[in-house]
Amino acid sequence: MDLRRDVQLAPLTTFRIGGAAAWLAEPATPAELAEAFAFAKREGLAVRLLGGGSNLLVADKGVAGLVVRLSPQSEFATLERLAADGSAWRVGAAVPLARLLRVAAENGRCGLEKLAGIPGTVGGAAAMNAGGDGIGIGDVVVRAAVMDPDGAERILDRSSLAFGYRHSNLDGLTVVWLEVALPDRDDPAAILARISERRARKAATQPIALASAGCVFKNPDARSAGMLIDQAGCKGLRTGGAEVSDLHANFVVNRGGASARDVLALAERMRAAVYGRFGANLELELKTWGFDDEELGPLTGSDHG
Ligand code: FAD
Ligand code: EPU
Repeated sequence: MDLRRDVQLAPLTTFRIGGAAAWLAEPATPAELAEAFAFAKREGLAVRLLGGGSNLLVADKGVAGLVVRLSPQSEFATLERLAADGSAWRVGAAVPLARLLRVAAENGRCGLEKLAGIPGTVGGAAAMNAGGDGIGIGDVVVRAAVMDPDGAERILDRSSLAFGYRHSNLDGLTVVWLEVALPDRDDPAAILARISERRARKAATQPIALASAGCVFKNPDARSAGMLIDQAGCKGLRTGGAEVSDLHANFVVNRGGASARDVLALAERMRAAVYGRFGANLELELKTWGFDDEELGPLTGSDHG
């Protein structure tokens, strides 16, 4: 199995920020994944799952323990047709979300178009219930296979899956594949056109060409956190190499050389500005790895690993 020591995580994240993982395993088979878990148990290491690293802020000092990244060149990155008409698929957790959308469209299956332009893997999307405009990937997931730390694979049926806003009960587990149901049909060309439109809209309203991790905060209620941060006057604010995007104020972009500390300090300025102006409490959407509560300060209440 591909198991390495002191591997820099910044290149494996879309933010391009953060230090090294004490250990990085890139298993290519379930047997290798089980081996990685056994290694972590033997060495007493905490395990974290890394997908496309597109919703992640890794601390400058890196993370202790073992980071597991399912190999993108392996069976974890394959799609299997379960129904001849293309209405059901088994999708490996390391499959890029964009590929699932393309395969669905080519098979005349619609419903996923609002996920177009979201980077990362299917496993990461499921853990986050990634989505937008009222839909999330969880809407189409009917079953998930997870591997337990003892190396046993377990199938979770729909009744034991819970998907909420940018949250699911798969986060903290190790998803190896998902089964998705795509009952709705349309003309492939029309679906592909909607995917292109969605991507174009995203490019016009979000800084997708710059290094970021998407929205920093969850929306506090029906209001957009981006709109609140914008109205609190934060666009263009800068801390070190981190900057609040001019295009969408809930995106912090790495202008070059930004540290995780810069991003956290800027996020705290954004949080405080919105609280001061609107009394709304913003919680991080980003997953933060390797920080202690003191470093996170008032951002601590947010989910972090
Ligand atoms: P990672 O960032 O690697 O991980 C995220 C979480 O998932 C971590 O807790 C990790 O441990 C867990 N995880 C990863 N793989 C697995 C696995 N196999 N099993 C269990 N847990 C796992 N998000 C949206 O929801 N909507 C958007 O419109 C959107 N737009 C974005 C635009 C840009 C430009 C960027 C950079 C990000 C955007 N995001 C958006 C955020 C991000 O792309 C999504 O959250 C994405 O689904 C994360 O997937 P990932 O594979 O990169 O996960
Ligand atoms: N707005 C502003 N200023 C800004 C940003 C937005 O005024 O700087 C306004 C927009 O003009 C619009 C409203 O706020 O009137 C809503 O904006 P948008 O459509 O961009 O939606 P959002 O609520 O800000 C959410 C998700 C995005 C997702 C979009 C589109 C969250 C935290 N964000 O943003 O997801 O792409 O909807 O579906 O839920 C992410 O989660 O990482 C992410 C990028």
